[in-house]
Amino acid sequence: MSTITLRNVWKEYDQRVVLERINLEIAPRSFIALVGPSGCGKTTFLRMLLSEELPSRGEVLIDGVPLAREPTAERGVVFQRYSVFPHLTVLGNVLLALECARGGMFARLYGRARRQAKGEAAAFLEAVGLSEHLDKYPAQLSGGMQQRLALAQALIRRPKVLLLDEPFGALDPGIKGDIHALMRRLWNETEITVVMVTHDLGEAFGLATRVLAFERLRDDPVDGDRYGATIKSDIEVWPRRLAGRPSPHLMLSEPASEPGRDDPAAALDPGRDDLATQGDGTGA
Ligand SMILES: Nc1ncnc2c1ncn2[C@@H]1O[C@H](COP(=O)(O)OP(=O)(O)OP(=O)(O)O)[C@@H](O)[C@H]1O
Ligand SMILES: [Mg+2]
Repeated sequence: MSTITLRNVWKEYDQRVVLERINLEIAPRSFIALVGPSGCGKTTFLRMLLSEELPSRGEVLIDGVPLAREPTAERGVVFQRYSVFPHLTVLGNVLLALECARGGMFARLYGRARRQAKGEAAAFLEAVGLSEHLDKYPAQLSGGMQQRLALAQALIRRPKVLLLDEPFGALDPGIKGDIHALMRRLWNETEITVVMVTHDLGEAFGLATRVLAFERLRDDPVDGDRYGATIKSDIEVWPRRLAGRPSPHLMLSEPASEPGRDDPAAALDPGRDDLATQGDGTGA
């Protein structure tokens, strides 16, 4: 479980204030949607939660402890595009994520450990509906399938906090519906807190427990860089949405027998965004 706390966080680039006065407490197992105009600092905010950027002022804590100064496996991320390695197969991508989580960037697993890791990676890929495509390369997958691969790659590291930067922004509406159902299920079944940036208000209110809107609240007519965006509104989604009880077999079971109250264990239709038969896909 992890509570994320931001205390008077500011972010400036050179003399330019991007974010200011961010005070926020995110309860464990929340699903936060972050909205706001382009350029207001949403990605910058996520990058600070990842430690890819440091606040210029203020502090970010997880469970009361200052964030590690570099990205760690407890925080996973999925970007809008290009989160996966194009030269690795579907299975290879998830296996690499697992190897990195177990032993660092250059660690490789061998023998029995590798076979076990392959089994684990295949099970996560099954959970996101990609078990038919283990040997394909990302270029042979549709956008929705690539994003499901990116989710599996992030989740296999068992992060406590999952950061999503417009992860479904490029998907067609029908495919979005399917991936939303998957996202709801993953959030219900896994012990994670999600922070998701989106431009889609329907998606924000459809998935989140809490919607935060960032906006610049004050302007200096002479010095446009003097003020940054801050939290303009903070809306608890009603009726309240509660995460389901996590499955003891992390995501490897069928939808949880006791799903979140708002989520009647939405059935996942993994085939919907599959491309019509692609080449055979050779791979590792
Ligand atoms: N590394 C950096 N160096 C300097 N300025 C930066 C850097 N990263 C971001 N910025 C600036 O900070 C501001 C906020 O950028 P950010 O990418 O966080 O916005 P955003 O809300 O995610 O926008 P969008 O909705 O378009 O993705 C922008 O004006 C951007 O130019
Ligand atoms: Mg952005």
